[in-house]
Order: sequence, then C-alpha cells, then structure tokens
Amino acid sequence: MADALLEVRDLKVHFPVTRGALLQRVVGQVKAVDGVSFTVRPGEVLGLVGESGCGKTTVARSILKLVAPTSGQILFDGTDIWAMNKAEEAGLRRRMQAIFQDPYSSLNPRMKIREIVGEPFVIHESSIGRQEIDRRVRDLLDLCGLPGRIADRYPHEMSGGQRQRVGIARALALKPDLIVCDEAVSALDVSIQAQIINLLVDLKDELGLTYVFIGHDLSVVKHICDRVAVMYLGRIAEFAGSDTLFGQPLHPYTRALLDAVPVPDPAVEASTEHQVLSGEIPSPVNPPSGCVFHPRCPIAVEGCRTDVPPLQEERAGHFAACSQVRFETPTASPPSIHSPPMP
Ligand SMILES: Nc1ncnc2c1ncn2[C@@H]1O[C@H](COP(=O)(O)OP(=O)(O)OP(=O)(O)O)[C@@H](O)[C@H]1O
Ligand code: SF4
Ligand SMILES: [Mg+2]
Repeated sequence: MADALLEVRDLKVHFPVTRGALLQRVVGQVKAVDGVSFTVRPGEVLGLVGESGCGKTTVARSILKLVAPTSGQILFDGTDIWAMNKAEEAGLRRRMQAIFQDPYSSLNPRMKIREIVGEPFVIHESSIGRQEIDRRVRDLLDLCGLPGRIADRYPHEMSGGQRQRVGIARALALKPDLIVCDEAVSALDVSIQAQIINLLVDLKDELGLTYVFIGHDLSVVKHICDRVAVMYLGRIAEFAGSDTLFGQPLHPYTRALLDAVPVPDPAVEASTEHQVLSGEIPSPVNPPSGCVFHPRCPIAVEGCRTDVPPLQEERAGHFAACSQVRFETPTASPPSIHSPPMP
C-alpha cells in the first residue's frame, strides 16, 4: 500500500455560472475548490472544517468520483482515480464508501433495511445466495449495534440514529478501506451524535478503516480527527495535527473560528469575550484578490490585497497560508526540510 491511501493534488473544481434563456451563456465560474492539496494516511481520520460554502462537500464529491475536477489529481492507493480502467474503477467503488448527513434521503424509503444493507452484495457479488446475504446483513447490523429484527422494517419506522447506523452498515458491506463522512452526525441530537461518533471510532479500530471526516462542529472534529485541514473559500488556510491545530492555531481564520466556539462552563462563558469575525464570507464567484481572507482579517497588511500566501510548513507538520504568521509567532521553529512540503 502507498504511504498515502489518498492524495489530493492541487485540486480545483470550478462550476460554470450560466445566464440566458437556455442557460447557455457562461458568465463566470464558482471557484468551489481552488487549489487544495493534502494526503490521507492509512488508518488516520483526516478532518475538513470551515464555514458553509467553503468547498468541503465538493472536495468529498471529487474524492468519491461524483464530480470531475477542473484540474489537479486525486490518487487512491497511488492510482489517479480519473485515469482508472474498468477493473480498477470497480475496485475503487468497493474500497471507498460514503456516509452522508441525512440518512433519510440516502436510504430508499421503499426498501426494507435487509434490502438496503444487502444491496451492495447484490450489485457487486452477484454469485452469493439469498441466505448468505441475509447472514451478512445480520452480522453488519450487529456490528453497528442494531438488532436483527429491524431487517424487516422500513427507514421511516426507525429513529435518526438508527437510520445513520443503517447507513454505516451499508457502507461497511464491501469491507472498504476509506469512508468519506460528510457531516455524518450533524443532523442528529447531541446525545445520539456521541453514540454514532463512538461507533465510528470503534469500527475504525476494529476494521482498520481510514476516514475523511467533514464537519462544522469543531468539538466533534477535535475529538475524532488525527489531522485537520481548515478550509476557507475553496482553499486550505491551515493544516496540522488535531492537538496542534486546536491548541496552537497559527492562521487568523482558524483562531477566529476557535474563538467563536462557546466555552462549556457557563460561568467562564459569561465572562468570555468572543472575537467576532467581521463581514460576510465573500462569493466564490468573485473571490477577493491576494489572500482571499484579507477583507475579514484582523491582522491584514497592504500586501495581503495582492499577494496570494502559499500554504507553507511553519513548524514540523503544521502548515498555514498566511504571510504574517512568522511575525505573529517569533518563537516558531524553522520548517522541516523536505521539498515540496505537502500536508
Ligand atoms: N453543482 C454546483 N454548481 C454550482 N455551484 C456549486 C455546485 N456545488 C457546489 N457549489 C457551490 O460551491 C461552493 C462550495 O459548496 P460546498 O457544498 O462544497 O460547500 P460546503 O463547505 O460543503 O458547505 P456546507 O458546510 O454548507 O455543506 C458553494 O458556493 C456552492 O454554492
Ligand atoms: S495573508 Fe494577510 S490577510 Fe491573509 S490571513 Fe495572513 S495576514 Fe490575514
Ligand atoms: Mg457540505
């Protein structure tokens, strides 16, 4: 297996903005993802965070081969997923699965749970019989903490947490290596969220899975992720190990995001002054020049309007895209030497 199970190289996904009676005139581009690079190591949980519209789902959809990149590459186990032959593509479909936010809309309401969870076997392993499929479905439901009797129920007869467990059971059917979880717990009540997170962690350890975990709740991301990429307007602003990112953030955007998180202790929260990020997120159709964060950045200097800051390794394994980081952190140790550095 390659060092990186997944490698995203300078990914750009631009959607055309069309006008006119038949929407045939292209008048601009939505730069949903605009030069994103990162690697996902086997067995890790890689987090993607950032405000709504920053491009997280578009990155996920590109990884899952649901949307074609405008440019850049995505390598799964060393092979470019957009240059695969049919056999490699079939392998990819088994080895990479997804869990989405709303299990209700991703589960066919007219199918019983046994059919939903067993469907991957019907599609990919047509030689196995009904009884064997039923046995495997029971095992998968059990693995995901669901009683076998729910196999005969329909999605609408289950709670949100149970439905998400069904979604996970289905994703596990073909023994994948990588699961992309896009806001997998965001729609659930807080107590149910914790149960599903614990299930994901247990399954990862038991089955040796790797996750790309997308979320906007920073406490959840901090809890489950080994490394985290913070996205802003289609780019990565900062990338580091979870403890480092949450403990010693470098980028002013990450700092503002973390500062906005309420403190759990009500007494401390009451006396805490949160720094409010000024202004709206700019449109990805017409992103700001230079550093895309400059109109909202509390430490911007004149050059930020014109110069695009590259994502640089500021400390070992800690990357930030900000020209002022060095001046803000005089004690920062020199970056480790390997070129070109890539998160
Ligand atoms: N198919 C599409 N056509 C045009 N624009 C799109 C398309 N898909 C996404 N976008 C735009 O691309 C940008 C990024 O969207 P994306 O869904 O990836 O963000 P996100 O970070 O997942 O947001 P959220 O946290 O709300 O889920 C948004 O401005 C969105 O409107
Ligand atoms: S490069 Fe400039 S505008 Fe961008 S985050 Fe750094 S200081 Fe702020
Ligand atoms: Mg999204």
